[in-house]
Amino acid sequence: MIEYKNEVPDIKDYWPLYLSTGWNEVFKMDANSVERAIGNSSFAVSAYWQGELIGFARAVSDRVMYATIYDVMVLPEQRGRGIGSELVANITRQCKAAGVYSVHLFAADGTEPFYQRSGFQARPPSMPGMRYEAEEG
Ligand SMILES: CC(C)(COP(=O)(O)OP(=O)(O)OC[C@H]1O[C@@H](n2cnc3c(N)ncnc32)[C@H](O)[C@@H]1OP(=O)(O)O)[C@@H](O)C(=O)NCCC(=O)NCCS
Repeated sequence: MIEYKNEVPDIKDYWPLYLSTGWNEVFKMDANSVERAIGNSSFAVSAYWQGELIGFARAVSDRVMYATIYDVMVLPEQRGRGIGSELVANITRQCKAAGVYSVHLFAADGTEPFYQRSGFQARPPSMPGMRYEAEEG
């Protein structure tokens, strides 16, 4: 049975799950930085199966108006069994239970239908999500 715990996992458990997404090929973060990042989350949920961390999601929030979900991930061999949907439902529930007015996320390429099934809607083209990347050097 899969156990869902509303907590940040140990970095030793998280690191292989995080690397399985391939995101660190872009971010190039060290384990200490990632440990600090997930530790600063407002809400988190970790999925365990037979003692192994197989899924994770987190949100960063002001706990009143906004929360943004990040790092929704499931180990490749465990995908397609509803674990990702349960992680999104759980983290959204935590945000709503804390009284957060509006929950946001950025859908990775191809994941829009996955999030739509969990009740999320794309922002209208006239109100796109935007980001600022500080210049290097
Ligand atoms: C996205 C992710 C968390 C989904 O986890 P999961 O446990 O497989 O999710 P569920 O089993 O609840 O739902 C899977 C459904 O979503 C769809 N789906 C998930 N990821 C998808 C993707 N990248 N492209 C297209 N469809 C996707 C599957 O086709 C499946 O549909 P079905 O139920 O009709 O077969 C998982 O694929 C993952 O970890 N991906 C890598 C990290 C990532 O991209 N995270 C999202 C960041 S925004």
